[in-house]
Amino acid sequence: MKNIIEPFKIKSVEPITFTTRDERLNFMKEAYYNPFLLRADSVIIDLLTDSGTSAMSSKQWAGIMDGDEAYAGSKSFFRFEEAVKKITGFKYIIPTHQGRAAEKILFTNVGGPGKYIPNNTHFDTTRANVEFSGAVAEDFLNEIGKHPEIRADFKGNMDVPALENFIKEKGVENIPLVMITVTNNSGGGQPVSMQNIREVKAVCKKYGLPLFIDACRFAENSYFIKKREPGYQDKSVLEIAQEMFSYADGATMSAKKDALVNIGGFLALNDDNLAMNCRNLLIVTEGFSTYGGLAGRDLEAIAQGLEEIVDENYLQYRIRSVEYLGERLISAGIPIIEPPGGHAIYLDAKRFLPNIPPEQFPGQSIVAALYIEGGIRAVEIGSVMFGRYDEHGKYVAPPMELVRLAIPRRVYTQSHIDYVIEVMIEVFKKRNEMPGYKITYEAPMLRHFTAKFEPLF
Ligand code: F0G
Repeated sequence: MKNIIEPFKIKSVEPITFTTRDERLNFMKEAYYNPFLLRADSVIIDLLTDSGTSAMSSKQWAGIMDGDEAYAGSKSFFRFEEAVKKITGFKYIIPTHQGRAAEKILFTNVGGPGKYIPNNTHFDTTRANVEFSGAVAEDFLNEIGKHPEIRADFKGNMDVPALENFIKEKGVENIPLVMITVTNNSGGGQPVSMQNIREVKAVCKKYGLPLFIDACRFAENSYFIKKREPGYQDKSVLEIAQEMFSYADGATMSAKKDALVNIGGFLALNDDNLAMNCRNLLIVTEGFSTYGGLAGRDLEAIAQGLEEIVDENYLQYRIRSVEYLGERLISAGIPIIEPPGGHAIYLDAKRFLPNIPPEQFPGQSIVAALYIEGGIRAVEIGSVMFGRYDEHGKYVAPPMELVRLAIPRRVYTQSHIDYVIEVMIEVFKKRNEMPGYKITYEAPMLRHFTAKFEPLF
């Protein structure tokens, strides 16, 4: 059959509140044109993030009832530990309340002033936790990953020669580990190839450095490898994931993505000493080592989610539905990062609104228009998020102006996506009438969450 259908039936539903354009204009004004300040029940289709927004399965909900809430040695912990070990093969599995907590524990132990952490692209919280420890976060994305309009299979790959030069320049003793993020969220949800992971591993081995994987979207990455990388067509996604982790010495994971839960995460690793130190810190900041800030029921839901995520019918539907949205936008002439990524479509706001300069926030203008036109919530990843001023007060724009439409897992059907396409096309038609914006309030750090805007008509 040609039609790829949602590989689930719907047992429980949550109503969407519909709003009129006039109501949305008002809500947007009241939220100072910042979608983070909107009430979620005034949103029709929420594409702000794919994190913690998944629909859980009936088996996961059954696991919620079945969760063992013992403080220590809960049976849910052992089920969780076994599920993570089956996929990753790591010796120590440390639960945390979400991804950034695993990062905090890891980098508090290995980071610190004078240290450097290389990654293909650090996600914001990873960078923040590296920097918070006093270390420096450096990105080594392959050149092709930096060009939104060029299509390639593995645009998340690391630039291996640049990584090796960096190790030589900074000194092995100053690099506690190398990290690789699959898929590369900040670079458009683009996958990393097995070949690239092997090459990174070879460099790590040569210099005696551990390799860690930021594994939030490991199943989506594994599926891309199966579809695109020679030699993997006949392997199962589980086998591919196992091979990927076999090259690594540890991983951090936000279970809010590819473990199909609303909260949770883990740190997994092999080194005895580091694991002991991480567990000790976990007990101070997160909780005892068999729950790490989670309830027993959360561990049960993660264990079940990890079994479901490697189902290839699910992954085929998942990757295809994101690609479908991307294809329709491309054929309407709407500029996006190509090819479509695993969990999101990234609009290229520079090409969408060439007349609005970065300091007037073209991405924010699209985000506001998407909400007003159709109640769709997206997020700007450009000048609002990363723009800064130099020491002379001159504006410095980031390299790309993007808008992310992240697709929650198992939440929206094809007709919801068709609606998104219709709204996008409508907004694109009206692009010449769209205003730039100015900021009227900004916090000193992470301003995008709370900034207030005004349109420049
Ligand atoms: N690493 C990556 C690649 C991520 O995408 C995220 C979260 C994290 C780490 C941190 O995990 O949120 O559980 O603490 N990304 C979300 C997003 C927030 O919207 O992309 P967390």
